[in-house]
Amino acid sequence: MTDKTVHTGKNAGGGDVRLTGISKSYGAFTAVQPLDLTVPQGSFFALLGASGCGKTTTLRMIAGLEEPTTGTVFLGDRDVTDLPPYKRPVNTVFQSYALFPHLDIYENVAFGLRRRGIKSVKKQVGEMLELVQLGDKAKHKPHQLSGGQQQRVAVARALINHPQVLLLDEPLGALDLKLRRQMQLELKRIQTEVGITFIHVTHDQEEAMTMADTVAVMNGGRVEQLGAPAELYENPRTTFVANFLGTSNLIEAEVVEAGTELVVTAGGGKLRLPAERCSAPAATGGRLLLGIRPEKISLAHADDEDTIATGRNKVTGRIVDTSFIGVSTQYVVDSPAGGALQVYEQNIERDTRLVPGAPVVLHWNPAHTFGLDATQAIDAGVETVEDAA
Ligand SMILES: Nc1ncnc2c1ncn2[C@@H]1O[C@H](COP(=O)(O)OP(=O)(O)OP(=O)(O)O)[C@@H](O)[C@H]1O
Ligand SMILES: [Mg+2]
Repeated sequence: MTDKTVHTGKNAGGGDVRLTGISKSYGAFTAVQPLDLTVPQGSFFALLGASGCGKTTTLRMIAGLEEPTTGTVFLGDRDVTDLPPYKRPVNTVFQSYALFPHLDIYENVAFGLRRRGIKSVKKQVGEMLELVQLGDKAKHKPHQLSGGQQQRVAVARALINHPQVLLLDEPLGALDLKLRRQMQLELKRIQTEVGITFIHVTHDQEEAMTMADTVAVMNGGRVEQLGAPAELYENPRTTFVANFLGTSNLIEAEVVEAGTELVVTAGGGKLRLPAERCSAPAATGGRLLLGIRPEKISLAHADDEDTIATGRNKVTGRIVDTSFIGVSTQYVVDSPAGGALQVYEQNIERDTRLVPGAPVVLHWNPAHTFGLDATQAIDAGVETVEDAA
C-alpha cells in the first residue's frame, strides 16, 4: 500500500485544524480555558495531560460532540464550529471501541460505506484490512480477536470514511503494556502511510513522545507548552512540564552572576548554566529553579572527586537508595542542594562502592542545565502514588 490517495480520497488536503479562542465551561467550572491551537495538516499531534485536564473535552469540540462556550474551530479555511458531527470530515476512535459483535470484521469495516449506501465496498474494505494487517481475519467475529487486533479494526472502521482528521481518545487504554507499545508503533505506521492528521489524546507521556510529531502538554484546562517531544523534554518551560514529562531534578538557587552564563549558588556550592536555557528573567540576587535530568548526571564516589574534569557542575551528597532496573541503576541522593535527587546510570561498569550511605559527587555538563521561574510550585506535575495506580 504505497498510494496515499487511496485512503485520503476526495478529502485529501483539507488543511490544518485550527482552534481560536476555544473554551468550554460547565456552569461556573471551566474545563478548557480559551485556547489557540494549530495542528498542521498531516501531522501526528498528541494532547497530553493528567486526568481531568480537559483533553477529551477539547477533542469533542473538534469532533462537534461538544459545543464550545467561546471560540471557533477551523478545518483549513472552513469554519466548522456550527456543523453537526456527521457533517465534519472527522472521525473518532474512542477508548471503548465497541465493535459490532454480531458482524464479522469485514462488515465492521464496511459499515461506514454501507450506511452511506455504497454498494461496491470490496476494494476499499480489502485495502483497509491490508493497511491494518488483518486481511486474514475478515471472517472472524470481534470476540475472536485480541485487544490489539480489535483496536486496529476500530481504526480501519474510522479511516474507511476518508476523514481529514482522525481523533483518538486514549485508544490504547484497555491494552496491556506490551501490546500498547506494539500498537503505538503500528498506529504511527498507519498514520505515516495514510498521511492524514491524527490527534491523539493520552495521559501517558511515553506514549505521546513515541508517537507524536508535536505534543501539547495540558494542565488544568490550559496548554502549558507545545513542541516536538525532544524539544519539550530538553527545554521544559514550566515545572509542570519538567516533572510530568519524564523526571527532573529541580534545585532552588540564587543568582550570583548574570551574563551569557548564569552562576548560581545552591546548598553552599556554585553551579552554572547557559543564560539562553533559562526561561525566567535572571538578575543577580534573584531566585531560580535549576533543572537537570537524571540521565545527564554522572555519579562518582567522594574518594574520586579529584578525577572529575574541571568545568563540570558538582554537587555533593549521600546515596539513600538504589534500584537496579536492568539497563540502568537509579540512585536517590540526598544533598545540601536538594533532597532526593535522582540519578540514572547505565549499567556498563558498576562501581560497587555506590551503595546506600556512600558519600558521592554528582557532576554534569553545565550546558545540560535549564532554568525555570522560581515562583512556580516546585512539585507541579510530579506523579503521586495515587496517580500511578
Ligand atoms: N458534562 C460535564 N459537566 C460538568 N463537568 C464536566 C463535564 N464533562 C467534563 N467535565 C469536567 O471537565 C474536566 C475535563 O474533563 P475531560 O473529560 O476533558 O478530562 P480529560 O483530560 O479527558 O481526563 P481523563 O484523562 O480522565 O479522560 C473534568 O474536571 C470533568 O470533570
Ligand atoms: Mg478523557
